[in-house]
This record gives sequence, structure tokens and C-alpha cells, in this order.
Amino acid sequence: MIRSDSASAFITTEHEIAGTRSSGPEARRSAADAALSRRSVRAYRDVPVTDDEVRQLLTLTGRAPSAFNLQPWRFIVVRDQATKDRLQAAAYGQKQVGEAPVVLAMYADMEDTMAHLDEVVHPDLPAEKKAATIAMLERNFGSMTAEARGVWANTQANIALGYLLLIAESEGFHTSPMLGFDVAATKGILGVPAHATITALVALGHGAEDGFRSHRHEVDRVARFV
Ligand SMILES: Cc1cc2nc3c(=O)[nH]c(=O)nc-3n(C[C@H](O)[C@H](O)[C@H](O)COP(=O)(O)O)c2cc1C
Repeated sequence: MIRSDSASAFITTEHEIAGTRSSGPEARRSAADAALSRRSVRAYRDVPVTDDEVRQLLTLTGRAPSAFNLQPWRFIVVRDQATKDRLQAAAYGQKQVGEAPVVLAMYADMEDTMAHLDEVVHPDLPAEKKAATIAMLERNFGSMTAEARGVWANTQANIALGYLLLIAESEGFHTSPMLGFDVAATKGILGVPAHATITALVALGHGAEDGFRSHRHEVDRVARFV
């Protein structure tokens, strides 16, 4: 068994690494195939990911649904090596942070969402319906604390995180989602607002390893048909 130090805290079963996986445009696959093949990859080759490719991934990620269609997710695309090195230190040394060509910092910002409801609600709504929708949202979320709003927004951003991981795999990239980082330090490095919730750091690139063999529960362990 091969186990990387950075991953060991997050792996509860034995896994093995079985060579380098294919990546790039020739490795594009359907969502179903991507769901089957995706693994967290914690070592990256020195192969660039372009801004256009990142934009395409974020466009597809933004197709994720959210309650009231509020889309409270935000992204910071980090490719500056000095910034990635600082992020790696904040992520307890996880080497994929410094090694991947791109690190996506994903966060949920409900305060920004609330401050811009005018552009958040559907543009096709007639003026009267639009005003009523904004008033309803201000009532609903205005009665919550900023902290509770942040937690709520993060539940929505996690839907987009799932999209991102699946879409990246289906487009021929590899990823490593992470919650193992010092939140305050990471916010400081990236200038993420104090009120925002960081959903995850995601290392993105072309893998230099296979990742650990998948271990998943059988459907009957997690589902009941009634
Ligand atoms: C939200 C989230 C946070 C995670 N944080 C870390 C992390 O900080 N470090 C790490 O090595 N893996 C992290 N993982 C990876 C999980 O350990 C991994 O997804 C799980 O073991 C299943 O393996 P797979 O992704 O290869 O299918 C995280 C995964 C998710 C979804």
C-alpha cells in the first residue's frame, strides 16, 4: 500500500496507486463515466491548464442549480506560484496545492448575493414580480444572522463543488478537493471576505498518479426503497 502523508488523515480504508491515469482532451468522458473514473489526485504533472479551459469549467460548474437560483458560489483562480506556496503552507503542507498548475478557491458569499439581488433574480421576470421576489428574499434571509446565511449559502456552493469535480473529470482534468486548511490564513492570503465561507480548495491539473482505488458504499447500504 502506498499512502501519501497529506492524504492519510482523510483515508479510512486501504487503497493502492496503480499507475498514471490518462488526461487531456482525448480523455474526455460522459458524466456517468466520469462519476465512475474520478478519484482525488494529489500529484500533478507540469502540464499547463489555460485560462480558457478554466473558464469553460467554471461556466459548466455555474450550471449547477441552487435554491431561489441565488448562485452564491464564488471562485478565485490561483496560478501564481508564490501564492500557491503560501496556500500550501496554510493547507498543512498538502503538496498538491503547490504542485497543481491551478488551485481553485471556492467560497460562498451570501452578503454579496444579498447586496445584488437585482442582478440575481431572473431577468425575464416582469418588474412587479421582480420587486416581489426581491422583497421575499430580503424577508427570508434578512431574518437570519449573517452566520446562518453563510452556512446556507455554503450548502448551495457544495452543489457547484460536486459539479466542478465531475465536470473537470469529464473534460479530462484531475482534481483534489480539500477542506484541510487553516481558514483564517487562507482567507487572508486570498482576500476572501471574513463573512464568506470557504467551500473548498480544489487542485486542478493533469495527474502524475492514479489516486487511491475508490471505496464506495453499495446502494443498499445508503438507500431504502419504500
Ligand atoms: C469537501 C472535501 C474535502 C476534502 N479534503 C481533503 C483534504 O484536505 N485533503 C485530502 O487529501 N483529501 C481531501 N478530500 C478527499 C477525500 O478524502 C476523498 O474525496 C475521498 O477519500 C474519496 O476518494 P476519491 O475522491 O478519490 O473518490 C476531500 C474531499 C472532499 C469532497
